[in-house]
Amino acid sequence: MAKIILTGDRPTGRLHVGHYVGSLKRRVELQNSGKFDKIFIMIADAQALTDNADNPEKIRQNIIEVALDYLSCGLDPAKSTMFVQSQIAELCELSFYYMNLVTVSRLQRNPTVKSEIQMRNFEASIPVGFFTYPISQAADITAFRATTVPVGEDQLPMLEQTREIVRKFNAVYGETLIEPDILLPENQACLRLPGIDGKAKMSKSLNNCIYLSDTEEEVRKKIMSMFTDPNHLRVEDPGCVDGNPVFIYLDAFSREEQFAEYLPDYQNLDELKEHYKRGGLGDVKVKKFLNAVMQEELAPIRARRKEFEKDIPEVYRMLKKGSDEAREVAAQTLRDVRAAMKINYFEDEELIRMQSEHFGG
Ligand code: TRP
Repeated sequence: MAKIILTGDRPTGRLHVGHYVGSLKRRVELQNSGKFDKIFIMIADAQALTDNADNPEKIRQNIIEVALDYLSCGLDPAKSTMFVQSQIAELCELSFYYMNLVTVSRLQRNPTVKSEIQMRNFEASIPVGFFTYPISQAADITAFRATTVPVGEDQLPMLEQTREIVRKFNAVYGETLIEPDILLPENQACLRLPGIDGKAKMSKSLNNCIYLSDTEEEVRKKIMSMFTDPNHLRVEDPGCVDGNPVFIYLDAFSREEQFAEYLPDYQNLDELKEHYKRGGLGDVKVKKFLNAVMQEELAPIRARRKEFEKDIPEVYRMLKKGSDEAREVAAQTLRDVRAAMKINYFEDEELIRMQSEHFGG
């Protein structure tokens, strides 16, 4: 069976370092591993519109931002097909058929949808499109016959829902769709990077993100202002590393070699953590090290972005080409789906012959 990746992001803003460690970095590694037959990276504008119906301009402006973030992280259009969700009409068609295979109560139990409804204060005024986006996400994944979906932990319930839809579809209409596997980050700290304010999620609306496209100075300022252990008031005080964003970021980003280069008093992160826990290590020193580590990771991304920004029409051409290619793949799946559901009436000679006999023609 062909190994196929599909994953994507909502274009509601520029991508941040949470996206990067949670999925983007991994995608580039998978892309360059040569182990996959096909890689699809989708800018999920239609999904973004499910809770931004009144603000399409925001989505429209951010498609290029996300595309630039992709390219600057190393996604390469020669190896990965980048495309825009709304341009693939087949995804709507597929969602429409999947809607018959999912109950309202099942959607209400989806933990991600539940928490997003709370976050947005939707209560009783949930747009139907938003409520059903897990179904449309199942269409995204299955239309491309994806076997592997590299995403952050928050997407687990979406994958579970997709797998259920696949099983149900195949049971009702015969083996047609492929059940995908989720690929989570291996590093625990990358599963859900907290915001710089220590809140569980990095989110644009909470204003607690470090963006891939932030300048060196912006990144430095954000790191130096980062929330740490609130009880670690004086340098001598023992500190806590668990749940401390500065250490979570170090878990996610730092490599052992970087100690020799930037902080030679310590061999590795464990030693640094031990000192912090004992007391006698100040936040500023740790933050300065984190800044060095993160700047090292972000500098090449920032530099590549500058290059791609010089030819914006080319980036749009790349997305158009990717969308055309993606549409062909989705169209083939839809042909198979229609055949399995036996709604391909005009190609069904058997049906026409039998009805003809029935009516005595
Ligand atoms: N829901 C994903 C997010 O918010 C974006 C997305 C849409 C996606 N369709 C997808 C991710 C299909 C993986 C596969 O980040």
